[in-house]
Amino acid sequence: MSISINPRAQSIQISGIRQFFNQMANYPEAINLTVGQPDFPTPEEVKQAGIRAIEENRTNYSHNAGIIELRDAIANFFKDSYGLTYEAATDIIVTNGASEGLDSVFRTILEEGDEVILPAPTYAGYAPIFELCGAKTVYLDMSDTEFRPDPERLEALITDRTKAILLNFPSNPTGVTLSAEQVGALAEVLERHEIFIVTDEIYSENTFNGQHATFAKHASLKDRTILVHGVSKSHSMTGWRIGFVLGPEAVMQHVLKVHQYNTVCASVPGQYGALEALTNQRHIPGEMNGEYVKRRDYVYGRLVTMGIDVVKPEGAFYMFPSIEKFGMSSFDFASRLLKEGGVAAVPGSAFTAYGEGFLRISYAYSMPVLEQGLDRLEAFLSKIS
Ligand SMILES: Cc1ncc(COP(=O)(O)O)c(C=O)c1O
Repeated sequence: MSISINPRAQSIQISGIRQFFNQMANYPEAINLTVGQPDFPTPEEVKQAGIRAIEENRTNYSHNAGIIELRDAIANFFKDSYGLTYEAATDIIVTNGASEGLDSVFRTILEEGDEVILPAPTYAGYAPIFELCGAKTVYLDMSDTEFRPDPERLEALITDRTKAILLNFPSNPTGVTLSAEQVGALAEVLERHEIFIVTDEIYSENTFNGQHATFAKHASLKDRTILVHGVSKSHSMTGWRIGFVLGPEAVMQHVLKVHQYNTVCASVPGQYGALEALTNQRHIPGEMNGEYVKRRDYVYGRLVTMGIDVVKPEGAFYMFPSIEKFGMSSFDFASRLLKEGGVAAVPGSAFTAYGEGFLRISYAYSMPVLEQGLDRLEAFLSKIS
């Protein structure tokens, strides 16, 4: 074909997770520990709110930024949970999942040649967005700092081309969280440099060790902090596609245009489901966390007993043990574990080169599944050691 494709689209790759999923189809008997969504159903009341919206014909386009009732509920949620003030009318946009929110934000702020600092190992969905905008990803290595960004390393990476930093805590793939002190130390660096701080806080409600610390709390940064959130993980609503972006009006008025031309508005029945989630179902993430902590403790305990080096996660539902000592690439390790051990887990290299030497295990599975998966992992390790 002689018609040319945009070279930026040509150069981005199918995600490593997808490539691994394609292999998994050949091993239907494997215990699957790869999934990045809660294993709980969407709460019944949320389902009913979505059904009611459809039955009452609330199925037209909404305001581009989302129904005002939901934006009010989002503002109230952030006020009550984090003491943050956002104006529903000007500072909040409801998006098709956090994914579209991230895409609309970066397409609003990035210019050709800009640099974005991305602490890694990291979720695979970010760098392709930057690259499609003609921006460069500058990785901040966290592989030897227990998966937390080192403030000095951060400062050393900031140049006059740096436009933004993207921070995702609790983190996919490591489950690591930041304390208020750790956020404070990074904020001190960021105060000295006029760049955007984009925070993907999709796992904030799944924090186990006390309250989630958010960069938006730092008053000196708030006029350039853009917070991306949503109900996908907190209320097990990944398929409903509802996320939200909160930020200063001066930025959000431009994000709204990009969002509008991208998608018009988020799914309207989905918005009514999210409204129920954020008003009457705020207790749901806490209930899920009770289960996640039991599973986290179990998986962590088993890995430690097997002699595996692993940082104990305090949020999300992932663990990122080191498999370096087995002397294989993480892709080869995960492939052999799948074929010979009957367990599917995502190779760390799916989370950038900084994830090489690690394996991502999701514990968003029932205890019997986790028990069987870890028994099989143990048997596989004794075979290859
Ligand atoms: C860190 C992170 N951000 C964003 C997303 C996507 O969220 P959503 O389903 O709301 O688009 C995911 C999904 O796995 C994720 O892990």
